[in-house]
Amino acid sequence: MKFPYTEKVLEHFKNPRNVGKLENPDGKGLEGSPACGDMVAVYLQVNPDTQIIEDIKFESYGCASNIATASIITELAKGKTIEEAKKISWQEATEELGGLPPVKAHCSVLAVEGLRAAIRDYEEKHGLVSEQEPTTV
Ligand code: FES
Ligand code: FES
Repeated sequence: MKFPYTEKVLEHFKNPRNVGKLENPDGKGLEGSPACGDMVAVYLQVNPDTQIIEDIKFESYGCASNIATASIITELAKGKTIEEAKKISWQEATEELGGLPPVKAHCSVLAVEGLRAAIRDYEEKHGLVSEQEPTTV
């Protein structure tokens, strides 16, 4: 059987960026995947004036693909505004990793859902809930 993971997936799996938890986060999300039952938590620290994500951390209770995708998503989201970070898709994260096996798509979806849940939590706490929430990932 051919080894299914790119070098970049392995590198992020072995050295995930921004792992951990923020104390008193401005937003936090906990999501579970219906496909595999795994979970991911995402924590955000947001500058209230600029809406820029200044810090982000994650905890994954998922597989290698989920850890690698969550890691890359934190890199993509850091320094972006809340609105920009909402547009990060699992497809973009997967592309950044050089691809994932198709059976692992739900693992990257889970990571993006964790980020979006944290953003939603931030918006709800700060009275910023927008009219048009994206309904798909
Ligand atoms: Fe344990 Fe895949 S769920 S190895
Ligand atoms: Fe559950 Fe990948 S198999 S997150």
